[in-house]
Amino acid sequence: MSDSRIIVALDYPDEKSTLQLVDRINPELCRLKIGKELFTRCGPELVRRFVNHGYDVFLDLKFHDIPTTVANACKAAADLGVWMVNVHALGGPAMLAAARTALADETSPLLIAVTVLTSSSQDDLEAVGISQSPQQMVARLAAMAQDCGLDGVVCSAHEAGALKSSHGAGFTLVTPGIRLSSDSKDDQKRIMTPTDAIKQGSDYLVIGRSITHSEDPVQTLLTINSDISQLL
Ligand code: C5P
Repeated sequence: MSDSRIIVALDYPDEKSTLQLVDRINPELCRLKIGKELFTRCGPELVRRFVNHGYDVFLDLKFHDIPTTVANACKAAADLGVWMVNVHALGGPAMLAAARTALADETSPLLIAVTVLTSSSQDDLEAVGISQSPQQMVARLAAMAQDCGLDGVVCSAHEAGALKSSHGAGFTLVTPGIRLSSDSKDDQKRIMTPTDAIKQGSDYLVIGRSITHSEDPVQTLLTINSDISQLL
C-alpha cells in the first residue's frame, strides 16, 4: 500500500516498454493505472503481477454496459486484487447501483465513476447532443454517483474544488488531465499542474505522458512527489 497521491498511467503498447519504467520504481513512489491499451494487449496476468509486487493498481476500463454485465465485470476486477476500478456515470443509476452491489465488501476495490472525460470540451458534448456545460454535467453525474453509493469520481482538477465542497472530504476525487507547466496539452483540454490540482482538492493525480514521455521518467516522478509533499 502506497501513500503516494500519484497514479502513473501505464499507457504503453507492450509489456517490455511498461517494465522499462516499472522495474525502476517501487510501490512507495506511486500507484499504477492499467487502461484499455495495456490490458487489451497484456491481459489480467500483468495486473496480477503488479498487485503481487505490492502496487495499488487502478484498473481503468471505464465499464459502461447493461447493469448485470457491469456488475460481473466489477467482480472479475475485484478477483484480480485491484485497488480501484471505474465505471462510466453515463451508464445511469441502475448500472451504478449494480456495480455498487457487486463491490459491497469492505475489502472491495474503490468504485469510482467517470464523469466527463478531461479530453471533452463544450463542443464535444454538444456534438453528442448534450447542451449542458462540462461543469454542469460533472456536477450532475457526481451527485448521481454519490447517491448510488460510489466512492468517488474521475473529474478534471478544475471541478475538484466545487466537488469537495459539495460532496465532502470522504468522496474521492481522481483527476487526470495533469500537465507540468513545460508540457504540451496533447489531446487533453481541461488540464492543471500537479500542485495546483492538489490545492484544488484532488485526492489522486492520474499522470501519463508527463511522466512516461519525459526524458527521465523516474526523476520526473520523484520531482512531482517532492513538490506535492511540500503541500501536504
Ligand atoms: O497522458 P495523460 O496524462 O493525458 O493520460 C491520462 C490518462 O488518464 C489516460 O490513461 C486516460 O485514459 C486517463 N483518463 C482521462 N480522463 C478521464 C479518465 C481517465 O484522461 N476522465
